[in-house]
Amino acid sequence: RTLNWNPIMVEKQGFKHFMLKEIYEQPGVVRACLEAYFPASAETPVTLGLPEEFYVDLEQIQIVACGTSWHAALVGKYLLEQLAEIPTQVQYASEFRYAPSPLTANTLTIGVTQSGETADTLAALSMEKERRQGKEAKYQVRLLGITNRPESTLGQMVSNIINTHGGIEIGVAATKTFIAQLMAFYGLALDVAYRRQTITAERLTEIIAGLRQLPAEIEAILETQERYIEQLVHDFAETKDFIFVGRGINFPIALEGALKLKEISYIHAEGYPAGEMKHGPIALLDAKVPVVAIAMPGSVYEKVISNAQEAKARDSRLIGVTSVNDGEAAEIFNDLIPVAEVEELLSPILTVIPLQLLAYHIAARRGLDVDQPRNLAKSVTVE
Ligand code: G6P
Repeated sequence: RTLNWNPIMVEKQGFKHFMLKEIYEQPGVVRACLEAYFPASAETPVTLGLPEEFYVDLEQIQIVACGTSWHAALVGKYLLEQLAEIPTQVQYASEFRYAPSPLTANTLTIGVTQSGETADTLAALSMEKERRQGKEAKYQVRLLGITNRPESTLGQMVSNIINTHGGIEIGVAATKTFIAQLMAFYGLALDVAYRRQTITAERLTEIIAGLRQLPAEIEAILETQERYIEQLVHDFAETKDFIFVGRGINFPIALEGALKLKEISYIHAEGYPAGEMKHGPIALLDAKVPVVAIAMPGSVYEKVISNAQEAKARDSRLIGVTSVNDGEAAEIFNDLIPVAEVEELLSPILTVIPLQLLAYHIAARRGLDVDQPRNLAKSVTVE
């Protein structure tokens, strides 16, 4: 009997690449985050273990991050503003470092970094700490880190951390750590909303119940859609450009879908808020440029559908990430990748999964080094 199994394959547990294995680990990551942030046995609905002073007179939030973590922060902004009613800005750490916003009172600064080692994010946080030192109380720094590695440099620098429970991620393109960061933002936004009473107890219970359904709903996407996506990518062997569009809470997911594709397949891809297409990207569209639109039921559904129709009129092939049983979408889109019908607020956790799989299968089919894309590093510890 021969052993046709090498150590690296054992680590990959039969998956061809770490990225695919990590995509499949996402239901478990969401479960771990649910247990950590919303334990059924706790006295309060959300338990993040942050000190009381974090929440006192909180007027503003600023978030610094890079790459995929920056996309998670944009979803976080949506949640913090819509649920907790706190004005929130999201900045690229590399930009914030050299042009920080003027100091504002009672501001919470959040650094989001999966590795806890990204040089720009660490520098932005330490600069913020420094420039607030010695100021009167309302201008003093309140720092929070959201990281997958509490033992990292970030963890040593910032005393308050939300641990994202993603487990070690090997693929350079972040997948499960992104999902975990989104979960951390659901935890934070709901915690702040609960304390500030900007949502009712019933609404809070309803959202947490919806979050608890997500692991099974991710599993359903993996079970029912992966084969389909693997087939679908045969049609994109020659494709050189992709456009991803979404609106509202799914706009950052369009950005993330485009980033995943760029990173590992080297295909030019742009993410856009669907309503902005007419201000430029529509000029690029023709039969050679597929458009992936995220069109989930909710406040912006009809708008995204009408933006998708504009792309169709330019002969673009339309791929829709929609909810199951969406008859209207079935008529418009050339290809549909359905996910469970969940409320819009929770949908990013599902809509990103088909986009990760799409990027993965396009790159794998092109025979590229999915886990170690050229020119990229897992954590960028230099400026
Ligand atoms: C690198 C990685 C990206 C990641 C970014 C930020 O560019 O290739 O996948 O999103 O760094 O990393 P961080 O560890 O700060 O989340």
